[in-house]
Amino acid sequence: MAMTQRVFSGVQPTGNLHLGNYLGAIVKFVELQNIHDCIYCVVDLHAITVWQDPAELTRNIREVTAAFLACGIDPRKHIVFNQSQVAEHAELAWVFNCVARLGWLNRMTQFKEKAGKDRENASVGLYAYPSLMAADILVYRATHVPVGEDQKQHLELTRDIAQKFNNDFGDSIRAHGFGEAFFPLPEPLITGPATRVMSLRDGSKKMSKSDASDYSRINLTDDADTIAQKFRKAKTDPEPLPGEEKGLETRPEADNLVGIYAALEGTTKATVLGQFGGSQFSVFKAALVDLSVAKLGPIGAEMKRLTADPAYVDAVLADGSARARVLAGQTMDAVKDIVGLVRS
Ligand code: AMP
Ligand code: TRP
Repeated sequence: MAMTQRVFSGVQPTGNLHLGNYLGAIVKFVELQNIHDCIYCVVDLHAITVWQDPAELTRNIREVTAAFLACGIDPRKHIVFNQSQVAEHAELAWVFNCVARLGWLNRMTQFKEKAGKDRENASVGLYAYPSLMAADILVYRATHVPVGEDQKQHLELTRDIAQKFNNDFGDSIRAHGFGEAFFPLPEPLITGPATRVMSLRDGSKKMSKSDASDYSRINLTDDADTIAQKFRKAKTDPEPLPGEEKGLETRPEADNLVGIYAALEGTTKATVLGQFGGSQFSVFKAALVDLSVAKLGPIGAEMKRLTADPAYVDAVLADGSARARVLAGQTMDAVKDIVGLVRS
């Protein structure tokens, strides 16, 4: 099988989508559509590694799908679906659980953060989460994975799993005519000025769906007044903005806001500082509010329209899942042959 270039990424349906998800991931999903075949997945099986209220989970799966569409992902040219409708993800994850080593998973910082102090009480699924993520990507033999900075370690683990599978089963891979390597080593795409968007309340903490304070994040569904209020209250320091990027190094809150502005505008931090260097935050924040409202307003409105029509959203997911299943089935058949499992 030839290794064609293919993009895969996933977003968990676990609550409010925010500016970090948008700038760190979804904006890139949209851009990559022009040059690659893309598969974008609502990773509902990852969501349930921590407790989810069932009715809320259903709503969130539809809401993330609506966000994908509202941001400009084309579900006809590409594939948009939810993970649990393609059983091969979980099936390949099991094979990968038998390839990955305990020592590798023990190093995962996301597990340590999410499990917290009471590790004995974390679900087994939360621990095995990275095997499922590797399966998501490799079941489509995807080569490129746009993600935020926080997912870098999981991508490295995915490459380790792919490499070990290729090595362990090398003879069988060759004997079955798949050449020297069956899985590609997927590359993370972590680029641009906003790969790690920080909390608006604390420049040392990541903007997150689970932060107790709604003022820490801009949600994709926030209205213009809310966006304005949140940026106005955003933590800053008393100095005016510097003229050069070096001046942001010890000013995490300023750095974050400049990065957000640059990413929304599709430019660099240096360009933004060229324009706003020497300005007070009151001036810069007003411009940031205008830009954010212009970019996010139409997305929020379209998300509301789409979530009011769950039958349409479900039809998009059903269609995407059917097409994904065909691709995933081919990989799983090959994996079974390579591993030596009898199939009919
Ligand atoms: P999640 O909501 O954890 O499923 O994340 C979905 C995507 O958004 C992943 O590619 C994350 O890396 C990205 N992401 C989440 N939070 C942030 C953030 N604060 N800054 C940049 N990217 C983020
Ligand atoms: N772990 C990712 C996150 O929390 C979500 C995810 C699951 C993912 N499977 C993936 C991202 C595959 C990229 C590719 O953000």
